[in-house]
Amino acid sequence: MTSRSEQGAARSQTAGQIHNVDIWCFSLNRNRSELSELRRHLSADEIDRASRFIAPIHGDRFIVAHGRLREILASCAGCLPAILQFERSDTGKPYLCGRRAEATPLHFNLTHSGEVAAIAVCRTAEVGIDVEQVRPVSEGLARRYFSSAETEGIADLPEAQRLAAFFRCWTRKEAFVKATGEGIRRGLHSFTVSVAPDEAARVLSIDGDNEAGRAYCLENFEAGEGYAGAVCVATGAAGHGAAFTLREST
Ligand SMILES: CC(C)(COP(=O)(O)OP(=O)(O)OC[C@H]1O[C@@H](n2cnc3c(N)ncnc32)[C@H](O)[C@@H]1OP(=O)(O)O)[C@@H](O)C(=O)NCCC(=O)NCCS
Repeated sequence: MTSRSEQGAARSQTAGQIHNVDIWCFSLNRNRSELSELRRHLSADEIDRASRFIAPIHGDRFIVAHGRLREILASCAGCLPAILQFERSDTGKPYLCGRRAEATPLHFNLTHSGEVAAIAVCRTAEVGIDVEQVRPVSEGLARRYFSSAETEGIADLPEAQRLAAFFRCWTRKEAFVKATGEGIRRGLHSFTVSVAPDEAARVLSIDGDNEAGRAYCLENFEAGEGYAGAVCVATGAAGHGAAFTLREST
């Protein structure tokens, strides 16, 4: 199931540090035996969360997403999936804790939408990832969530390109607020990402500062037919870069 392909060339023209980000993107649809295998990795809390979904399919998808998260992090840390311990930041971003996390620092982030989930892992910097199922959207939605520069950038495109641009923008914004850990609290109008098809993925401004976005690298990745995906890494300073590798794809 593992396929490797380089996504987004490392910004190697920079003299600074390159942060390596691995991405796993996979289907949440599994057969009963895979599901019970993945369930075995989960903590009592996670099993409890899975049991609280009203529709059983959502509980099963939660088990797959969190079971795969544990498998992937355990393979990076060199331990068993079930021994990993998680905590959440004040803003809700999950992180690894306990002795294993001290021995092998790992930054990660998880996203799920429809039948697809994706996980980003980086050893050296905070990451955020987002996948969205592409679906029809109303015109007002961009104005509600996006900055005026983003809304205008999308409106200026030929109609046939607007839906793809909308989800390119949405996933980039979500990946950014998940990398910072602020989530929706950041205020989605407070920063602007690039949206045009011929423009590299970038955070263009944060709170009106046109330089602040240089402390982040953004990239879109192939999330499967009917899905859009983006990943963001907090490289920390202008001049540092990132290399994104798609390890597994749906
Ligand atoms: C968590 C949040 C950051 C993303 O939520 P989402 O897009 O609905 O869901 P995703 O599947 O991408 O991410 C959920 C996962 O992110 C992780 N997460 C939770 N809080 C997080 C935070 N503050 N920062 C980073 N990751 C977080 C968790 O692992 C969570 O999975 P879990 O609930 O199964 O444990 C949410 O706070 C948010 O900002 N929602 C806004 C959605 C929106 O209105 N977007 C408008 C278009 S830009």
